[in-house]
Amino acid sequence: MAFQNILTENREGIFIITINRPDKLNALNAQTLHEIKEAVDCVYDDSTIKAAIITGSGSKAFVAGADISGFQGMDKESGSNLAKVGQNIFFQIENCPKPIVAAVNGFALGGGCELAMACHFRLASENAKFGQPEVNLGLIPGYGGTQRLIQLIGKGKAFELLMTADMISAQEALQLGLVNYVTTSDDLLPKTIELLKKIMSKSPFAISRIIDCVNKYFEPGNDGFRFEYDEFGACCETEDFKEGTAAFLEKRKANFTGK
Ligand code: COA
Repeated sequence: MAFQNILTENREGIFIITINRPDKLNALNAQTLHEIKEAVDCVYDDSTIKAAIITGSGSKAFVAGADISGFQGMDKESGSNLAKVGQNIFFQIENCPKPIVAAVNGFALGGGCELAMACHFRLASENAKFGQPEVNLGLIPGYGGTQRLIQLIGKGKAFELLMTADMISAQEALQLGLVNYVTTSDDLLPKTIELLKKIMSKSPFAISRIIDCVNKYFEPGNDGFRFEYDEFGACCETEDFKEGTAAFLEKRKANFTGK
C-alpha cells in the first residue's frame, strides 16, 4: 500500500506505523489521519500482523498535534466533523483486538498526545514531552483528550494540564502513569518490541478479550463484571485454552494459534 505521510513495516508480525512529516513535526493533517486509519485497518485485517507500534519520524516529535494550518476558516459544523473523524479513528485504535502501543519519541502535543492515549499503552524516550495546548488556540482537545487524560492521570491533574496548556516531561508522564516506561531514544523501539514479543507469546484470543474487558470499564452503563464472566466463558471454548492448560500440565511452552 502506498502512503504519502506515514511509513509502515511488518517486522516479524509487529506492524510499525511511523508518522512521517518531520518538517512539520509530524502534525496530523487530513491525509495523515486518513492514512493512519488505513494502516490500522491493516492491523485488523492482515493475519500476519499480530501487534502494532505507532511512532514518529525524526528525533524531535512523535506528533506535535493536529495540523494548525488546516484550522483557519473552520466553523461549528466543519470543526465538529473534524473532531468526529479523528475520534472515530482513535476509537478504532483503542478497540483494536491486537495490541497497539505508542512509542513516543519527542513532542506529543494536542492530537499527538491524544493519539498516544488512544493506544493500549505508551513508552516514551527521555526527550518526549506531553501536553494539550489547545486552549492557547482558543480550542479544546477534539480527539478524545478531555476524556482519556482523566482516565489515565485523574481529574485534578487532567484539569491542570488542559487548563494551563503546560507541557510535561517524560519523567513526569511516568510518575503520572501516562507512560509505562522511559528509555533512551535508542532503546525506545527495542524496548517496545521486547514488550510486544512477550505479549505475542500469549493467547491472541485472550489478549483480544482483555482489550474488550478493559475498554468496557470506561463505557458508561456497561456492567464490566458481567462482561468479564461472559468473556471468561468464551475463552473456555477456545483451542488456546486447551493448549494453554495442556502445556502447563505437560510442563512445556504453549503454542497458541488465537483460535
Ligand atoms: N501544525 C502545523 N504545523 C506545525 C505544528 C502543528 N501542530 N507543530 C509544528 N508545526 C510546524 C511549524 O509550523 C514549523 O513549520 P515551518 O518550518 O514550515 O515554519 C515546523 O513544524 C517546526 O516547528 P517549530 O515551531 O519551528 O519548532 P520549535 O522547536 O520551535 O517548536 C513546538 C516546537 C512543538 C513547541 C511548536 O512547533 C508548537 O508549539 N507546535 C504547535 C503545538 C500545538 O499547539 N499543538 C496542538 C494543535 S491542536
